[in-house]
Amino acid sequence: MSESNNPQLEALAAEALAEINAARETVLLDKVRVNYLGKKGSITQLLKALGKLPGDERAAAGAEINRVKQEVQSALEHQRVALENAELAARLASEKIDVSLAGRGRPQGSVHPVTRTIERIQMYFEQVGYAVAEGPEIEDDYHNFEALNIPAHHPARAMHDTFYVSDFIGGASQESEAVASSNDIKYVLRTHTSPVQVRVMENSEPPVRIICPGRVYRCDSDLTHTPMFHQVEGLVVDEHVTFAHLKGVIQSFLKVFFEKDLAVRFRPSYFPFTEPSAEVDIACVMCNGQGCRVCKNTGWLEVMGCGMVHPNVFSHVGYDTEKYTGFAFGMGVERLAMLRYGVNDLRLFFDNDVRFLAQFS
Ligand code: PHE
Repeated sequence: MSESNNPQLEALAAEALAEINAARETVLLDKVRVNYLGKKGSITQLLKALGKLPGDERAAAGAEINRVKQEVQSALEHQRVALENAELAARLASEKIDVSLAGRGRPQGSVHPVTRTIERIQMYFEQVGYAVAEGPEIEDDYHNFEALNIPAHHPARAMHDTFYVSDFIGGASQESEAVASSNDIKYVLRTHTSPVQVRVMENSEPPVRIICPGRVYRCDSDLTHTPMFHQVEGLVVDEHVTFAHLKGVIQSFLKVFFEKDLAVRFRPSYFPFTEPSAEVDIACVMCNGQGCRVCKNTGWLEVMGCGMVHPNVFSHVGYDTEKYTGFAFGMGVERLAMLRYGVNDLRLFFDNDVRFLAQFS
């Protein structure tokens, strides 16, 4: 700043420069500009007042004020650039994206272990040429029992703790409702998916090669039973079908399902709709057949029922019992899932606790 003989002007200039230096934001700096150089700013006022000075003083005074004005202007400009740069740098720093940071991750859903197990079973059988068949969960007594060689009062009905449906209205066609009320047809929640096999045989001729996955219901509830669970049953009907075919199919399936070459045995059993019938056991997957709590020290685990289709079942659906033979098998999905994934409590499948379910994602 050059020397001046106007101390008042010098004081004003010093004050302006101090305020400019002190302004830490562009908006504040602009206020300083307006205060000194705006229309009513103090330096502007001084310039306006020049006209009131005597003519001989005007030029010198005017030059003085303009010099101060330029000084203030350039200080303002200087500070503005500095502040703008600082503000931009601050913004860039605060808005910077660190591309090396880990992503936030999205919670991912998972397929329910029961669904997953059904899909695994289904995938195997589809690959070896079986079709998937489905049927109603509210079933009539005929398809659930009668056609499967379980007539009324047959003791085998006690094997199924059946839920009877008294007023079946929802979902029934008018026709079946009429039949129901006139003939007093009893409806049940299907106790197995075998009735689906009957329905398929009623509507098609052999060869038949199907599996029937689905929900089934039994009036049973304790540690190892739930009133609703899932089954996959299978049926093959053709000429010359033998028990050896059945054994081959079941053995291959179990090896693929459990992904190991485990021992499989067939134990004589009884089902009204198959003859002969067998229960299938596998070497305990927990202890490799050594004997443990899960297999109750027997080394074996029961995984499904099976047998050669009873001729009475074929007679009900109009198949020639001299020409055709067939085999059927049925397995509980929850049981297979428990063994496959090492789940020790059946209820975990139905609690819908995400901590459990998320382990299957
Ligand atoms: N339907 C039988 C059940 O639910 C299982 C089974 C199917 C057994 C086919 C033999 C043959 O218990």
